[in-house]
Amino acid sequence: MDDRLMTIERHIIEQQRTHGGKGDFSAVLSQIVFAAKVVSAQVAQAGLAENILGGTGDTNVTGDDVQKLDVFANRVFINALSYIGKVCVMASEEEDGIILVPDKYPKGDYVVMFDPLDGSSNIDVDVSIGTIFSIFKRLTKEGDGTLEDCLQPGYKQFGAGYVIYSSSTVLVYSTGEGVNGFTLDPSVGEFVLSHPDIKTPKRGKIYSANEAYYNYWKPGTKAYIDHLKSDGNAHKKPYSLRYIGSLVADFHRNLLKGGIFLYPEDTIDPKKPTGKLRLLYEANPLAFIVEQAGGYASTGYERILDIAPAKLHQRVPLIIGSKDDVLEYEEFARKNK
Ligand code: AHG
Ligand code: MN
Ligand code: MN
Repeated sequence: MDDRLMTIERHIIEQQRTHGGKGDFSAVLSQIVFAAKVVSAQVAQAGLAENILGGTGDTNVTGDDVQKLDVFANRVFINALSYIGKVCVMASEEEDGIILVPDKYPKGDYVVMFDPLDGSSNIDVDVSIGTIFSIFKRLTKEGDGTLEDCLQPGYKQFGAGYVIYSSSTVLVYSTGEGVNGFTLDPSVGEFVLSHPDIKTPKRGKIYSANEAYYNYWKPGTKAYIDHLKSDGNAHKKPYSLRYIGSLVADFHRNLLKGGIFLYPEDTIDPKKPTGKLRLLYEANPLAFIVEQAGGYASTGYERILDIAPAKLHQRVPLIIGSKDDVLEYEEFARKNK
């Protein structure tokens, strides 16, 4: 089969053939693909469609201003994943508690947690945004899933991925057998294999961080960033700073080109001592992807995928990307406590 004609549906079926299984996981992934197409269509016309731009005036459980597109995307993913009867529980950045599947649908073996729209502050200014998703097998036996099903360490993920809604819409996912990217061909409405077997460079030349917070970072973080901006680093010249403010967009560029993304802990907001990003539906899925592509993700002190979650919307410092860069950050964090 010519790769150019390798649609994501065919790729999922091929993965299922190698994994074995009844096809339930494939059904979950296929619904995520469907939901991504629906959100992509809405994002593409956000500037034109009636009342889809702007804020709702609400704030979500993690204190972010909720955009209308956040709410739309959230509903699309919840409805698609409820409908298929293969999911027992969900969690979303936009919902305070766990999300149960309505009684009219069967319950399945999978747990799906997602950030339905990442980078929402960029929606109204036409900058890339995304969706991030994480899939586990349930721990409980049957019926409705529970919080326990959601609070599993990242290394137990069954699959993970993200969608970036940008100049094109790209869906990148892994089921533990490497990382592949698919670009939506709007003329046929199919995601087609465009980035086979993604591997991220061991060391990059790019760093992504919001330097406005420099004065509120720990000494180790400051020392590391100063190191990147000097000619004393591995490249003997400063790294480039690229920061879009959408995690998915910054992550995707660094995954393909090499680089390190940092959202470290800071002392700006006592309510967020461990940084802004959330473990279950931002750090864990991207950590799964980056490790499958040969990179690494850390809090600066421990591997993201080893963290045993305590709360649904738990925040963690996220240092993620090219392995040598992230390991070097850990050295600075250790030496400059
Ligand atoms: P979300 O829109 O899902 O709340 O995520 C926004 C996050 C992430 O996308 C990005 O990396 C980060 O917010 C940017 O935060 P700062 O504006 O503090 O740099
Ligand atoms: Mn987000
Ligand atoms: Mn979000």
